[in-house]
Amino acid sequence: MTSTIDIKIEKIPKSRVGDYDVNDVPFGKCFSDHMLVAEYADGKWQNACITAYRDMPMSYALSALHYGQAIFEGMKAYKNDKGEVALFRPLENFGRMNKSAIRMAMPEVPEEIFMGGLLELLRLDSAWVPSSETGSLYIRPFLIATDEAIGVKASDTYKFIIITCPAGKYYNEPIKVLIETNYFRAVEGGVGFVKAAGNYGRSLFPTKLAQQKGYHQVIWTDAKTHDYVEESGTMNLMFIIGGTLITPSVSDTILSGVTRDSVLTLAREWGLKVEERKISIKEIFEAHKNGILEEAFGVGTAATIAHIISIGYEGIDHDLPPIEKRAFSPKMDEALRDIRKGRVEDKFHWMMKL
Ligand code: COI
Repeated sequence: MTSTIDIKIEKIPKSRVGDYDVNDVPFGKCFSDHMLVAEYADGKWQNACITAYRDMPMSYALSALHYGQAIFEGMKAYKNDKGEVALFRPLENFGRMNKSAIRMAMPEVPEEIFMGGLLELLRLDSAWVPSSETGSLYIRPFLIATDEAIGVKASDTYKFIIITCPAGKYYNEPIKVLIETNYFRAVEGGVGFVKAAGNYGRSLFPTKLAQQKGYHQVIWTDAKTHDYVEESGTMNLMFIIGGTLITPSVSDTILSGVTRDSVLTLAREWGLKVEERKISIKEIFEAHKNGILEEAFGVGTAATIAHIISIGYEGIDHDLPPIEKRAFSPKMDEALRDIRKGRVEDKFHWMMKL
């Protein structure tokens, strides 16, 4: 995609970064100095600008609020041991954002704005990137419909925005999950494979019910039979059964996660047997009964690797081996960290320096 869009830069006179300990802030609540905003109107992208992080004036008729034409990405920048800032596989998120845009009848964002704007933004706000072992700058690009009209139709105008926030660990402890068999997250022919805001909104009620029962998250199952597991919360799901890494294959109902792909790539490189296929609840609990369900974990940008310590199903909690006894996921967590921290060769060219 080509275009000639200048990105205007309005740098704030004084950074707010000194007001925070960027290595110790809650996830997603403290936003860095600048943001990127670009507008789509009259069939073209225009007015791209990096400016002070600020509130958005908007109409109560804003179409994104009523009909959910809203998509987003989640990505991260890291500070390596030399103090250099680098993005992790940003082109994957750029590509996926535009897949989401197509599915939601929204205009694709040009690379010049997404990538060019993001690199400029990070250059301005690099002091906000944590240097701690598990810290990163979480990056939230999003695209919303901005017509002031409540007729149901694809909007004619949009805003693309990038905001960023320092982040530590998403989960501070191994998680307990509940297999959800009443509600579903996604259905064939739907939008489960894209990062549509509505996928997350619809997940909150079943998640709240699970949390009231003492679980952190749910495991989503397929909408037709509820026999097969799909994702966990906002993460892709992986199991180690009898030494094989098994994960649901990407489909209409499963997000093609960047962390998912990174874990599978490294696992294959390490010589582990990897299977991307359907996995049934029955298979999981048979493996558990036979003592070969060695690990279960979620993988995602925000969480990286979230160890699953217990899986609830039909009133019974099935406990998994303690993290210290797991051979794969702690090692994978460390391997990803080593790449991000610049401690090992970046064989797959995943890190993009500013
Ligand atoms: C991500 O991992 O980026 C996600 O999408 C999770 C987010 C909704 C917090």
